[in-house]
Amino acid sequence: MNVIFIGAGNVAWHLASLFSEKENLEITHIWSRTKENAEILKEKIDKKSIQVYHSLEGLDFSKTDADLAILSIADNAFESVLSKLILPKNCILAHTSGSQPMQMLQKASQNVLGEKIEKIGVFYPLQTFSKAKQVDFSQIPFCIESNDKEIEEKLFTLAQECSEKVFKVSSKDRGILHVAAVFACNFSNYLWTISETILKEKKLPFDMLKPLLEETLQKALEINPSNAQTGPAIRNDKKVIEKHINMLEEMNLDDNFCQIYRLMTESIQNK
Ligand SMILES: NC(=O)c1ccc[n+]([C@@H]2O[C@H](COP(=O)([O-])OP(=O)(O)OC[C@H]3O[C@@H](n4cnc5c(N)ncnc54)[C@H](OP(=O)(O)O)[C@@H]3O)[C@@H](O)[C@H]2O)c1
Repeated sequence: MNVIFIGAGNVAWHLASLFSEKENLEITHIWSRTKENAEILKEKIDKKSIQVYHSLEGLDFSKTDADLAILSIADNAFESVLSKLILPKNCILAHTSGSQPMQMLQKASQNVLGEKIEKIGVFYPLQTFSKAKQVDFSQIPFCIESNDKEIEEKLFTLAQECSEKVFKVSSKDRGILHVAAVFACNFSNYLWTISETILKEKKLPFDMLKPLLEETLQKALEINPSNAQTGPAIRNDKKVIEKHINMLEEMNLDDNFCQIYRLMTESIQNK
């Protein structure tokens, strides 16, 4: 199967590397808005025959023999990229987004005449990816969707070659999983970033918190997060809560820290 990667960011970085190890998959093209990023991914995959494209004008792949195009770009770039994207008639177009409905892909064309693409699907790995951190794909849940049974099976089989955890998930359910994932991952990570900032300000080591982070996650996995809450908010310890807010105000690091502390406390107490 000949594969084009449209996007060379965090997800493409890991997925393209994984695909490059599979005998039945051949990465033939990489597109990214910034040429250098596409080149760096090509270097990582270490395959000289890969052709690199960039800029919106470089999105006409109609003359290639691609079987699958993986669209892995920033969600806010979907409209502009899809409106210029042209793929060969039989090429499947699948995106890796948690939030974008599958039907979005119909904005791409299947030929230079502008006929709308028919073979569309979703290949969403429910995990957090950064280029700097290795991932074990075998345990990553893949959410698969297509408007066509045969394509869905193809994408499902491809995902099974990557992971032990593959699911058929509608756009609606994927959107729900995504909002839950934003709380579980992005917001938790931001709260850890606040901890890091506070400790840095007072020249205390973030390492001191690492066992707490690990135990918090382990406990949430073992007994479920709703059974695992501790701390001044759930105990309604007003004196400690007030003291913390005063400390945050005095530190004057970021007005939002106090607001977040108050909102989180109220939210925990209203549970
Ligand atoms: N990162 C995650 O943890 C994660 C997990 C699961 C799914 N996803 C989804 O996978 C997709 C890619 O995410 P990512 O984290 O890999 O993104 P990313 O690292 O930010 O990479 C985004 C790609 O989109 C291109 N791009 C950004 N803005 C653009 C614009 N305005 N016009 C054209 N191209 C643009 C970038 O080009 P240049 O950088 O070369 O300019 C790059 O190739 C998204 O749909 C995301 O929701 C992400």
